[in-house]
Amino acid sequence: MICQARRRIASLSWIPSPILFEALRGVRDEKGPEEISIVIEKDPSLTSVVLKVSNSAFFGCRGKIDSIPRAIVTLGQKEVRLLILSILVHQQLNTRNTHPAFSMERFWRHSFLTALAARELTSSDAAYLHGLIHDIGLIVMATFLQDLYGMAAQIATERDISLYEAETEVGLTHTAISTWLGARWCLPPVLRAALSHHHEPENAGAFQKETAVIAVADTLARMAEKGKDAARPSNGRQNDLSMDETILGLAHIPAREYLSLWRRMPCLLEKAHSLWMAMETSS
Ligand SMILES: [Fe+2]
Ligand SMILES: [Fe+2]
Repeated sequence: MICQARRRIASLSWIPSPILFEALRGVRDEKGPEEISIVIEKDPSLTSVVLKVSNSAFFGCRGKIDSIPRAIVTLGQKEVRLLILSILVHQQLNTRNTHPAFSMERFWRHSFLTALAARELTSSDAAYLHGLIHDIGLIVMATFLQDLYGMAAQIATERDISLYEAETEVGLTHTAISTWLGARWCLPPVLRAALSHHHEPENAGAFQKETAVIAVADTLARMAEKGKDAARPSNGRQNDLSMDETILGLAHIPAREYLSLWRRMPCLLEKAHSLWMAMETSS
């Protein structure tokens, strides 16, 4: 069954658009304001989405931004670059034909929240991107391997375990799918490590630190989504949601920074939700 799944993924004609592909490969990382405007303005639908999201509750600039140059001046070049990336990833992966048990809203809220948390932890655009697409294998599984996704979702519900644990029992995880996609698309090794090992960053080889950052952001996001009351680091992975101090160590994140970000997670959760709402109403 797994070989069949692998063949199905290998035969997918779906690949990201050239502009997103370049962003994923890090080619467009350092664009200046003029280049950003040119790239966006070549695509009228992208322009309109950028303007709609710029004026959404996420940025708190309702009605003030009426052009791309104004968005760059008001929000900043870096913010607009990340916004474009978020819109492109959302447009490309926002497939409507997923398994009925898959919640698109939950997926996007989690992806945006993990991206925002990873950026808070590192101030790095790369970490934002890694967080944004870290669960790409999940949406591919829920879209193109619906039988396997359905089995995992059912096991997770019946046994009250995480979806990742249920996927392991089914024999195919979303991280394995991401590994195949990363190799097929020749993504940079650091991004491939984050996609493949964010549930076990200790196995990420030379990219343990970058991958552990995504593991921490992912855990914080899941805890915030569950509305957990406290998130103190523990001396071991007691359950899927407790934070292992070893992983904080791998990520080079002091416990006090982790706890400080945890306190800000409700605010980031609201931001992630408003970003998703803005994208949904624009698409
Ligand atoms: Fe994951
Ligand atoms: Fe995740």
